[in-house]
This record gives sequence, C-alpha cells and structure tokens, in this order.
Amino acid sequence: MHPSPIVIDGPAGAGKSTVARRLAERLGGTYLDTGAMYRAFTLRALRQGVDLQDPRALTRVVAEGELQLVPDAGGLQVRLDGEDVTAAIRTPEVTRAIHFIAGCAEVRELLVEEQRRLAEVLPPPVVAEGRDLGSIVFPAARVKVYLDASVEVRARRRLAELGPDAPSLEELEREIALRDERDRSRGVAPLVRVPDATCIDSTALGPEAVLEALQHLVEQA
Ligand code: C5P
Repeated sequence: MHPSPIVIDGPAGAGKSTVARRLAERLGGTYLDTGAMYRAFTLRALRQGVDLQDPRALTRVVAEGELQLVPDAGGLQVRLDGEDVTAAIRTPEVTRAIHFIAGCAEVRELLVEEQRRLAEVLPPPVVAEGRDLGSIVFPAARVKVYLDASVEVRARRRLAELGPDAPSLEELEREIALRDERDRSRGVAPLVRVPDATCIDSTALGPEAVLEALQHLVEQA
C-alpha cells in the first residue's frame, strides 16, 4: 500500500511534537519525529569532532550511525549506536549546530529515504512532523498541516519547558528567530508552507484545540 502519512510542518516551538504525538496516540498510529533524526546525527558529528562544513564527513556520520526511534510511554526513545540519547539531543549545543546537518543535501537524501521507509513499515496511520514533509518527503500525504505561532509565544512555551537554567525570554526569542531564518532560507529543503497545507495558527490556541482541529481534518480526508 502506498504510505499516506499525516504530516505537520512548521517553525521551531509551534507545538508540533505535542500535537503530533497525541494525534498518533488518539488514532492508534505511530508518531514520527523527523527533527530527532537531524538532532541525533548532529550529536554524533559533535561527538566525533568532524568538520561540520564537510559534506563528505557529515554523510559518513549519518551512513555509519545506527539510529532507532523506539515508541515508549513518554513518547519516543531515541537510540543512537545502542545508547539512549533522548535527552542528549535536546541540549542547546546540539540545537545551535543542527543547521550544518540540516543544510547538507547529501545527508538529507539519506534521511528522507529513511523517513519514507519508516512510513511504510511503522503501524499506520503515521503522524510525522518536521520542516519539509509536505513539500519534499511526502508530497502526496493525505493530510498536510502547517502549524505556526508568533515568535514570542513560541519562546514563552520553550521557557516554560526549560528548567531553572533557562536563558531569558529575549535570548530564547533570538535563538528561535535565528533557527527560523536558517530553516526558511537554506538552499536545500527549506521550511515552506506548501499551498495544499492547512495552516493552523496556535498563537492563541492550546494543544487541545489544535488537536481537535487536526482530528477534524483527518476525518474529512
Ligand atoms: O523539530 P526540531 O526543532 O527538533 O528540529 C530541529 C532542526 O532539525 C530544525 O530546526 C531543522 O533545522 C531540522 N529539521 C529539518 N527537517 C526536518 C526536521 C527537522 O531540517 N524534517
């Protein structure tokens, strides 16, 4: 059967992970976090100390790494070369360096191929979230959503998730705006809102309301 996932794209901190995970749960399907893949291989590249500007070195980091996304009670456990790196891939160090891997065309080719394979083998419906899913990875997805929110609200949500060592709200806003800018302007697979995606602005909506809207779209499809 041709895989036809439900895809959610959008900028950092718009709430994609929360609603994608919960929608998958509601539908009895599988949550696929494609950002975790870019994060895990960024961690691997940092640990190996490779030249982050060298596409051949980055491609090796990805081709030789063993990544597994294992569903668990809390959502998804990320295993890299047999180690649980679920927390390690969320550090600011990884987030700051991710644009090297994310901007490398050769790496994206490998990861896109893996995402398409996963969409075929994981228990359906697959609810996937990322940046280029509706545009590049799954252009024939049956439901495409672009989830957005203002930078300020996204930074506030991030702040609430972070512990006592969190940077200031202004600092978070700057970091988020920089990541948006990099994701939107890169030469390969930039973050775009494709014309056939339904845009949901979650600036004034909580996760429950977004979830309701998503469920409605799935029922209509
Ligand atoms: O979604 P998350 O914030 O974990 O993604 C981290 C980064 O990975 C994004 O800022 C983006 O640069 C990259 N990414 C991507 N394509 C995807 C998913 C994530 O380029 N499909």
